Amino acid sequence: MDKFILRGGNPLQGTIRISGAKNSALPCMAAAILTEEEIALENIPDVRDIETERKLLASMGAEVELGYGRAHHRTRIRCASLSDPVARYEIVKTMRASSLVLGPLIARTGMARVAMPGGCAIGGRPIDLHIKGLQAMGAEITQAHGYLEARAKRLKGAEIVFDKITVTGTEDLMMAATLADGETLMENCAREPEVSDLAALLTAMGAKIEGAGTSTIRIQGVERLHGARHRIIPDRIEAGTFLIAGAISGGDLTVAGCKPAHLTAVTRKLEEVGVRCEIAGDTIRVRSEGKLQGADISTEEYPGFPTDMQAQYMALATQADGVSQVTENIFENRFMHVQELVRMGANIRVDGRTATVRGKTELSSAAVMASDLRASASLVLAALVAQGETIIDRVYHIDRGYERIEDKLRGVGAKIRRIGDVFPQKQTDEGAA
Ligand code: EPZ
Repeated sequence: MDKFILRGGNPLQGTIRISGAKNSALPCMAAAILTEEEIALENIPDVRDIETERKLLASMGAEVELGYGRAHHRTRIRCASLSDPVARYEIVKTMRASSLVLGPLIARTGMARVAMPGGCAIGGRPIDLHIKGLQAMGAEITQAHGYLEARAKRLKGAEIVFDKITVTGTEDLMMAATLADGETLMENCAREPEVSDLAALLTAMGAKIEGAGTSTIRIQGVERLHGARHRIIPDRIEAGTFLIAGAISGGDLTVAGCKPAHLTAVTRKLEEVGVRCEIAGDTIRVRSEGKLQGADISTEEYPGFPTDMQAQYMALATQADGVSQVTENIFENRFMHVQELVRMGANIRVDGRTATVRGKTELSSAAVMASDLRASASLVLAALVAQGETIIDRVYHIDRGYERIEDKLRGVGAKIRRIGDVFPQKQTDEGAA
């Protein structure tokens, strides 16, 4: 199992280029199920979850080409015939976003057999709202042996109000509605940029969608969708993570190739803490002379402060003077990083959904263990400022959502190296057109 060894104390200087958004690439790859023609996606991040999605689509009979040359990260997917519309537990248990194939499979083939995604470190992660919406569209869904079995001759348009705002729930049902008979009106939708990016692809495929990115989305079903080419938006959470890396290390770091408008809640909070943020086009430059003031955060759905940045912000808050109250409103168990940060010397107390961070505390290196994707990112950030060499175990969590994070950080002066079994090499398509 790979580990990172990171020696703290180096202010990060220079520029880091942002990869494509994992949480947009995953639904966009699932959208290929909706047509028998080819879908070509550019700016695909080279992360483990994308490989998992490739395996999942291929297991159902899709032809999937995935290549990471220097010039491009792209995939070409053709679901000409889906011989086996089943999302097997062996794959689903490693990535719960596999539930994103549920809606497209029912819409395209009239049936789907999808393993119930288990919970994960951050919470139970139910998909009851996906199921409720599909049932409203006429799908018959039964649960047996850990699998969802869904059938529908043809989905019909419906009026759906989400009881809770759900990102993949909005995406799953939006995809299902594109081929339904009639109009679907969805209220209380997620407004994340990844929802709008998926809608842009679906529209390029011939779907009729209005309101993506707002709470109300209206979809007119069509008979069929055709192939399309689409470029995935930059990853706002990767960008936010590196902004905090620049701030926590007291450096001068530019994040390039991002969409600053997707990060407003994060940059505003960094400025409140005393970090200077300069936005110019697709770059954000952060500088901090190390003097930071504590500030509270409360995670909310977009455009509020993102839950996927909570753990990273907590690492920064340990280096700020005063008290920072960190409240996690989206997931019920997303403080797995707290104990590891405390072992490095942080002063954090958890009471229900709120963690109280008292700073500034010196962090010292320790052997720590990653538990989930963003918790592992927060440990890397803490190690950047800790005295000595920190060993972070189980970095496969971080490889799920960050493209070669050690190379990107080393490129701006971090003393970080990966040890353990070599990360499986990706096939590259150097010669590909
Ligand atoms: C997406 O997960 C992201 N994953 C998560 O990113 C992100 O943390 C989350 O949205 C919130 O922004 C992808 O896009 C692949 P939700 P998702 O449905 O869609 C409850 C990362 O780090 N809920 O918006 O699974 C749920 O339990 C990952 O990249 C139901 O109760 O999250 C949670 O409390 C982690 N029933 C809340 O809603 C449902 O049917 C929000 O969950 C669905 C969700």
